[in-house]
Amino acid sequence: MKNFYKEKDYLKVAKNIFRPITEYGGGLGYRFEHSCRVLSYAKMIVLVQELKNQKINVQAVYIAALFHDIGDLVRLDKNKFMDYQGGPDINIEVEGARLLPKYIGKITDSKTMNRAQELIAMHFDYSSKDIENWIIQDADNLDELGLLNLWRMFTYSSAVKRSLNKTLEFWEREEFKSKKNKVLKMFHFKVTKQWALIRLNRMTKAMDQLKLEHLGSDFRF
Ligand SMILES: [Fe+2]
Repeated sequence: MKNFYKEKDYLKVAKNIFRPITEYGGGLGYRFEHSCRVLSYAKMIVLVQELKNQKINVQAVYIAALFHDIGDLVRLDKNKFMDYQGGPDINIEVEGARLLPKYIGKITDSKTMNRAQELIAMHFDYSSKDIENWIIQDADNLDELGLLNLWRMFTYSSAVKRSLNKTLEFWEREEFKSKKNKVLKMFHFKVTKQWALIRLNRMTKAMDQLKLEHLGSDFRF
């Protein structure tokens, strides 16, 4: 994976912005780690077969990948805790596009900035046919599936004082499963779809085993 133009500078800004954030699902620093992963997945996705003959504005895509969640800043309280609700009138992706120049305006040319802003503004739009947006969406959603997502579920449980029994119930609830299946259908490329399925299966298997241990019923001889 190649570094992109001024990557170190962008990472420095992202670290300052996201690292101090605490959230229920993931804890302190999760948002920074997530942002870095989305960037690293985007760098892989630009290499997929379907994009082989497409002209991609990699600079804008990578910036948008790293800062796609910058709109979350409007949901922070004075302790940099992120409230997921964020108020009924807040459109997080539009806020993100608006905020971007404030943080990286000095190190980004205006053409790249405009495109990165467009990409951030549309990153929840699943009717979009924009392939650069598809890269961000798949990179972001890939991080919604897998064992790290279980870490988020457990840290959330701990923060809201939810027991393991209730967490297992939550996991097994049909609406949660269908939510994960819905996420699975959102992927745009063959490889990302495959990896989404691998991660979904991985987390399902882990939760099945955890349940057995929790019930004390795996210990047999
Ligand atoms: Fe995200």
